[in-house]
Amino acid sequence: MKKLSPISGFSKLSKKEKIDFLKNHLVTDMDAKTLESFWHANPDLQKILDEFSENTITNFPLPMGLVPNLMINKQLYCVPMVIEESSVVAACANSAKFWLNRGGYKTEVIGTSKIGHVHFKMQTTADELNEFFHDNKDKLLNSTLPITEKMEKRGGGIRSLRLVDKTKELENYYQLELEVETCDAMGANFINSILEHIGKHFGVLLEGSQVGGRESYEVIMAILSNYTPNCIVRAQVSCSVEDLNDPSLGMSGEDFARRIKTAVDIARADTYRATTHNKGIFNGVDAVILATGNDFRAVEACGHTYAARDGVYRGLTRCDIRDGEFKFWIDLPLAVGTVGGLTKLHPLSSLALDILGNPSASRLMEIVATVGLAQNFGALRSLVTTGIQKGHMKMHLMNILNQLGAGKEECEKAKNYFEKETVSFNGVRDFIENIRED
Ligand code: MEV
Repeated sequence: MKKLSPISGFSKLSKKEKIDFLKNHLVTDMDAKTLESFWHANPDLQKILDEFSENTITNFPLPMGLVPNLMINKQLYCVPMVIEESSVVAACANSAKFWLNRGGYKTEVIGTSKIGHVHFKMQTTADELNEFFHDNKDKLLNSTLPITEKMEKRGGGIRSLRLVDKTKELENYYQLELEVETCDAMGANFINSILEHIGKHFGVLLEGSQVGGRESYEVIMAILSNYTPNCIVRAQVSCSVEDLNDPSLGMSGEDFARRIKTAVDIARADTYRATTHNKGIFNGVDAVILATGNDFRAVEACGHTYAARDGVYRGLTRCDIRDGEFKFWIDLPLAVGTVGGLTKLHPLSSLALDILGNPSASRLMEIVATVGLAQNFGALRSLVTTGIQKGHMKMHLMNILNQLGAGKEECEKAKNYFEKETVSFNGVRDFIENIRED
């Protein structure tokens, strides 16, 4: 690698020039050709992709897979998932099939509102500020009408606005907390626009007032919160313990139910396990979020905060066995959209939404939470029966074999051999080298 010196105007370079820069400093001619080989053949489409981000040089494809047979509220879905980890889609598909004949998944949207804050500082008394806020709240809300008008026509808009005294946490710190309904949009831009307006207008109103310390009013920032505990959906499965008897499990339905419940309880009791437990849930959640052009970082951040809402990070799923009935569920906060953002802009997320029957944001919440629950069920099912390595490693083995350029016959031999052996990259490489030498 050559020593790099600072470059100015990099963003102004064309894509080709950016790759040339790489070629001059960091990669070979061959690498540069590889980067170009991932450009889309259709220049119009490539332009759309390039403009999602900055300084783009190529595309980075990930596989999109399908989970068929996912029954939610008696309706069948075929769910697109974008994920690079082997066995995630297969595990979800298995869980979908497992519950297909046991009543399927059931969901319920518990709430859909989102929250944002104007974070401000002011040297005043909380009582005086509170009185001023209440006297001026209607004026403040009315001033947002030009921004909220269209959303209100769609059934959304502002649901509440309140002043929060945070001076116990931080000196002179207050918030204007806004609760908003954004219908089928994720609504980040909408919420942030209202908040920025409210922050400014509250200042204007204060200026014309006699409130003590009004000249010290300082908006630090105005931004939505990605923590959306009021935008939440429940997905669940249930059946009699007897109905869990399934030869594929290698144990009685009763033992299986008990072991799943214990595994879920462990994830609620132990943070180390909770992290992995929830990671498995987000394997599924993120894959659908990504496929539908939604923001997986926002969804993850929110889910993890929710998992720690009582001060301890816990598993997100719950399980109960009562009167011979097995019940397994998840409550998941999910701020998603089916209009706006990337959803319709990216040709594949638009297509993914078509595959899902062009759901509303609420329906998408139900689908995503169901996939999260199914993913967790799949992982726990393996963990408490055969162990995770069996299924996981079968897929991992195929990836390693592909990487080693193994032919059909070599793959067959490797699959037979690794039925009983631990899969590791070195182990598979040695095995292939040995059969190639024979
Ligand atoms: C692997 O990506 C996810 C799991 O570890 C989840 C779990 O342990 O529950 C299988």
